[in-house]
Amino acid sequence: MYVCICHSITEKDIQKAVNNGASSVMKLAELTMLGTQCGNCTKYADQVLSRCVCKS
Ligand code: FES
Repeated sequence: MYVCICHSITEKDIQKAVNNGASSVMKLAELTMLGTQCGNCTKYADQVLSRCVCKS
């Protein structure tokens, strides 16, 4: 499922970013560009990030 439509970023992409050291939405933005266009995805991305950080 897409989390960030503007940059076509999925939950799997977020999991990969977490595996590469992303632990915040700001870091996700650095690694994937998530949230850097309209910004509508950041709240949901934060929830997905929390789940991914717990799993890893
Ligand atoms: Fe993520 Fe627009 S949906 S920046």
